[in-house]
Amino acid sequence: SAIAVIIVAAGSGTRLGHAEPKAFVPLGSGTVLSTAVDSVLGMRETPRLVLVVPSERVESTLAGFAAVAEASSTSIDVVAGGESRQESVAAGLAVLPADVDTVLVHDAARALAPALLFDEVVGAVRARRRGIVPALAVVDTVKRVSDDGHVLETVDRSELRAVQTPQGFPRASLAHAYATVQGDFTDDAALVASAGLVVDTVPGDVRAFKITVPADLHRAEQLVAESAG
Ligand code: C5P
Repeated sequence: SAIAVIIVAAGSGTRLGHAEPKAFVPLGSGTVLSTAVDSVLGMRETPRLVLVVPSERVESTLAGFAAVAEASSTSIDVVAGGESRQESVAAGLAVLPADVDTVLVHDAARALAPALLFDEVVGAVRARRRGIVPALAVVDTVKRVSDDGHVLETVDRSELRAVQTPQGFPRASLAHAYATVQGDFTDDAALVASAGLVVDTVPGDVRAFKITVPADLHRAEQLVAESAG
């Protein structure tokens, strides 16, 4: 029973203020994407890896990771993404080998999510046979506000969680959700839940933060420098 990790890296990431798509922005001695791949290669069990990238970068990404695939004996597929994150995940799902029964979907932008978090998600998917998302308590006080900025109410934060990736699923559940559910969702857990399936949480990791704005990239550079030194 094999694991696949789909890394979605086909977004433009304009909020980062770089010319290249976010996943291809330099980070440490590599890129945001290569940093995410390094984490996956640190997993206890070697997964099949599917990288979903902008269509004009498929060839160069394949070439760029060929040596890594060879050296780590890892199967690395590269496919073109879509207009939305959801379409990009679907493109990755479409090329999964038949032997895969556990699928993790990961944002390239969460480049510093540690290998251990991937292992924990895999373990929980297998033990509970359902979707698993890493989640952290919300530390800020959260308010619902009107269009014109008036505070309407304070939301009870004790029942709120900020969720991250990698999100893991039994392959059949994720494939069923993608085949049947209509609509736009910001993560895979929402899509799977909307198909009527139960999704559980495991503790998230602060290092799995999403690189979105320039300050996030700065923080990522610092973390990479610390772990290298
Ligand atoms: O834009 P955002 O940060 O929410 O994107 C989350 C992840 O989804 C990123 O790693 C991005 O590259 C990916 N994505 C994608 N295809 C899209 C949009 C986003 O693979 N069309």
